Amino acid sequence: MKLIKTTAELIDALVAVRGTIALVPTMGALHDGHLSLISAAHADSDSDNDVVIASIFVNPLQFAQLGNCDDYRNYPRDVDADAQLLESAGVDFVFAPEVAEMYPLRTPEVWVSTGEMGSQLEGASRPGHFDGVATVVTKLFNLIRPHRAYFGQKDAQQLAIIRRMVHDLNLRVDIRAVPISRGADGLAESSRNQHLSASDRRKALALPTTLTALRDRRIDLDQARDQLRNCPGVDMDYLEVVSPDTLQPITWPPTAPALALGAITVGGTRLIDNMDI
Ligand code: PAF
Repeated sequence: MKLIKTTAELIDALVAVRGTIALVPTMGALHDGHLSLISAAHADSDSDNDVVIASIFVNPLQFAQLGNCDDYRNYPRDVDADAQLLESAGVDFVFAPEVAEMYPLRTPEVWVSTGEMGSQLEGASRPGHFDGVATVVTKLFNLIRPHRAYFGQKDAQQLAIIRRMVHDLNLRVDIRAVPISRGADGLAESSRNQHLSASDRRKALALPTTLTALRDRRIDLDQARDQLRNCPGVDMDYLEVVSPDTLQPITWPPTAPALALGAITVGGTRLIDNMDI
């Protein structure tokens, strides 16, 4: 595996690459969820990827407009440990640039705007977040020119926006969604889980438990919201049922494929999860 830090090195390395390139974009702090993206890139059943590239870049643009620089500063970073993990997972190249390498002129003037899709749900409490995500993902696509890119279903809003961006901007990359990876207790894997105490983790299970009850139609959407709101130690941000493609709200009960998504805060840690309904 080769660890690449600069765009010049990246371009040199890619000149020699023949065949199909798969990209797994990450912000590091890798967990089993990321490794499942790498496995999917290696074991894609309907296509062979010749080269798997992972990127590690904590993108300031997706934090900067939050008025919460602490979240950016405190984001866990350990590129060497992540690179070792990616090497064992059989990744060919890791692209791990510094901020100045990605944004040499500092904050860009030109961004990708994600409109209404990016301003609701997660975007309502994180204004500008998805514009930052879409901008850096476009840059990564332009630099690496992957044939396929792998994203986790866990960030369902991000996935829907990236799919829409690829469509709206005619980007020539095939977006593959990888199912949510869950711990044995059912909690969706997230870099933020490391901030949870054992007791917070138990409380956080209210989110997958409620989503499961909703999916199985044991409760309706109002009951699901009440259930989550009434969980001690859990602060519900939202619980919505939306169209998986447009993210437009769907009235309960859904008559077409729908996605239930929720966000909660437990012990100061914000967690998201979703399930197909
Ligand atoms: O999902 C993430 O880790 C990030 O949003 C991404 C896609 C790597 C862009 O910075």
